[in-house]
Amino acid sequence: MFHLLRERIYWRMQPRVPEPDLVMESVAQASSFSEAGENDGVLAFLYLYNALQITSILQPGDRVLDLACGPANQLTQIARLNPEAHFVGLDASPAMLECARSTLARADISNVELMQGDMIRLVHLADASMNAVICTMSLHHLPDLNALSATLREVRRVLKPAGRFYLTDFGRLKLLNTQRFFADDLRQSAQFTQDYFNSLRAAFSVEELSAAVASLGPDVQRHVTVLASFLVVFRSGFQRPFDRQILQRAKEAFAKMPATQQENFRNVARWFRIGGYALPCDMD
Ligand SMILES: C[S@@+](CC[C@H](N)C(=O)[O-])C[C@H]1O[C@@H](n2cnc3c(N)ncnc32)[C@H](O)[C@@H]1O
Repeated sequence: MFHLLRERIYWRMQPRVPEPDLVMESVAQASSFSEAGENDGVLAFLYLYNALQITSILQPGDRVLDLACGPANQLTQIARLNPEAHFVGLDASPAMLECARSTLARADISNVELMQGDMIRLVHLADASMNAVICTMSLHHLPDLNALSATLREVRRVLKPAGRFYLTDFGRLKLLNTQRFFADDLRQSAQFTQDYFNSLRAAFSVEELSAAVASLGPDVQRHVTVLASFLVVFRSGFQRPFDRQILQRAKEAFAKMPATQQENFRNVARWFRIGGYALPCDMD
């Protein structure tokens, strides 16, 4: 709480330090990140939170692009909740796509195809070919603001008219100490902690993200965690009510997570809810 309050009242912001490895090409990095996203891994709570919020913008029959899908732990959660939608996971790193292939095979997911490509130039994807575009924890891997704008232009190009989107990432924190605090908080391997710290330093500010996402048109809702802009979500306005089947799948996924992950899930839901963004369903 002390860190969050200091973050709230401080006025100057740390400069952005781009990721040392923009594309996560090393096998060690890919596997350490992949492990963190498994059901008992430290990122499981965030993946389930995003999966539920993303499900609320999707409809059966949708074709959905996941930009920079990494090892597909996030995509696995979403694809499981939405078996009637078809997903394309795109990433620039062959090592990540290799992890993604095994994640999907282990989870027996068949409604996801994988594609190697650069999110800045979606050369293999046609105009207006997607009902929805999602992107989780990846925009900070872009080198600069020009690349961020180019990526958002591509999102707009591949989306159908009135297509939906959910883009989430870290917002740049103001203080180095707060960045350290969040990076150390998950108590992980040295590799993961360093990667996480690098990510927080590479995050764009909420204002930089908002300016780029504005190119998607007037239907943009912005949600930021309360007190510190640790996480930020940009989504289109469409909200699908959850039916009984989705609720049941969501509760099963929640019940499978370890207690610490369930607690982290409640915390992130609370930080967003106090900031005005509620979950579409109650997990407890
Ligand atoms: C931190 S991971 C996040 C992965 C996934 N979205 C998730 O939430 O677990 C960032 C991913 O972005 C990928 N990446 C970085 N720059 C990229 C680019 N220009 N085009 C496509 N993928 C990129 C990296 O290879 C890495 O897999």
